[in-house]
Amino acid sequence: MHKDIEKILLTEEEIKGKAKEMGEKITKDYSSKDLYIICILKGGVFFTADLVRYINLPVNLDFMDVTSYGDQTISTGEVKIVKDLDSSVVGKDVLIVEDIIDTGMTLSYLTKNLKQRGARSVEIATLLDKFERRKNHVDVKYSGFEIPNVFVVGYGLDYAEKYRNLPYIGYLKPEVYQK
Ligand code: IMP
Ligand code: MG
Repeated sequence: MHKDIEKILLTEEEIKGKAKEMGEKITKDYSSKDLYIICILKGGVFFTADLVRYINLPVNLDFMDVTSYGDQTISTGEVKIVKDLDSSVVGKDVLIVEDIIDTGMTLSYLTKNLKQRGARSVEIATLLDKFERRKNHVDVKYSGFEIPNVFVVGYGLDYAEKYRNLPYIGYLKPEVYQK
């Protein structure tokens, strides 16, 4: 375990098992649809990469980078698109893949935005759901794990752009924030 990590919340095996379960469900649900996966950078990369390998369909993969203004541990509200999609979503069945839903601000904005652009359907797949912190309602079709209101890092999730590469998800030691 990394020296800055206090406790592991989800192991590599648990995450992998969830990716498999979710991928198989998506395969069934989207068998007759035009699946267009949108990975939300940067955190969503890790889960997306594992998830799509369990989706047995011709997947179209695109990336989007958004930021919500705020400090490092709490997002405030406004959402800005930093990197947009490469292709049009008109008529596509969009599935947004995220690492974590916190306030729901990012995804409620994105869902509306993609519907306005003409997507046929827009659904959400997230590995983690911090449901206690929800401010904006979002319909989450695929949710991996519901977690308490504690800041987590690893498997894509960062603190000040670090720890994304940890293969597991864990809690940071409090002294790391106080540095
Ligand atoms: P929302 O708009 O508040 O739902 O913001 C979701 C985004 O906040 C995620 O994509 C993460 O980048 C970030 N975030 C929320 N909670 C955590 C956490 O516990 N660790 C790391 N990043 C987090
Ligand atoms: Mg993020």
